[in-house]
Amino acid sequence: MQDGASFFQGVNLRVGFYDRLFTHAANLAGEEDFYRGFTAETDSVLEAACGTGRLFGSLSGPGRLLAGFDASLELLRQARKNHPTVPLSLQRLESFAFGRRFTRIVVGYYGLSYVLDAAGRTGHMRCLAAHLEPDGRALIHLPDAEILRRPIPDHEMAAFQGSRSIRDQATGFEGALTHRVSEATLEADGAVRAMHFHFALRNSQGAILREETAAMRYAILDEDDLARLAASAGLRILDIRKGFSEGIDSELIAILAKA
Ligand SMILES: C[S@@+](CC[C@H](N)C(=O)[O-])C[C@H]1O[C@@H](n2cnc3c(N)ncnc32)[C@H](O)[C@@H]1O
Repeated sequence: MQDGASFFQGVNLRVGFYDRLFTHAANLAGEEDFYRGFTAETDSVLEAACGTGRLFGSLSGPGRLLAGFDASLELLRQARKNHPTVPLSLQRLESFAFGRRFTRIVVGYYGLSYVLDAAGRTGHMRCLAAHLEPDGRALIHLPDAEILRRPIPDHEMAAFQGSRSIRDQATGFEGALTHRVSEATLEADGAVRAMHFHFALRNSQGAILREETAAMRYAILDEDDLARLAASAGLRILDIRKGFSEGIDSELIAILAKA
């Protein structure tokens, strides 16, 4: 079984430019306001699989403990640079351990979908339950399962490409980072969607200076899968949403509590 976390690890273009590449998606509209509301009036928040700490601004609050962990040393380094006061650790969703509980635990932006094996997801759910205060809430944000399962139409494949301009003041470098998805496949008898990315760093004339390919793999999980997982760890689904704001229905956002 592939490790879904490996896409986010190493010294490479996709990790070095993670925030530029992956965090401007239209389906995330309303996310920050939603998280501000979800964590309001709470005293402790854990972000599981926090990456670069992109969400820390909306998860932090006066007098509140905010902690984060991730499996990527390289993304954690960026998080530490951006948010030096947030305690961070290198841990996995499947087995994380803290010596305390939290009133909110956020497993944001598809984090759990990168745990490709069922035993890992069961382990994750147990860890969630063990770290939640008795009246606490956990949030799991996944991509919609039906969208991952169906064949991806050509116009959507075409939309998985783009170019971001790169300007580095320290070195004077000017160029662009381009990305596209060359192929989208189903693996593990249809349980995993793999998006095969191509990334290239180009100079201002468009010539390729560096390129790489990597597959992002998502476990396909629907509401019933989540409900079963939650029940296996003594949790239950309190609420389900399809997006953080009105008009978005491409997401599966579940709020969990102790059963
Ligand atoms: C799409 S990013 C989201 C990062 C951050 N939550 C955000 O909203 O920007 C997914 C994150 O999950 C992390 N990740 C994937 N599999 C993991 C695992 N098994 N344990 C811990 N972190 C994992 C990756 O390293 C990456 O930071």
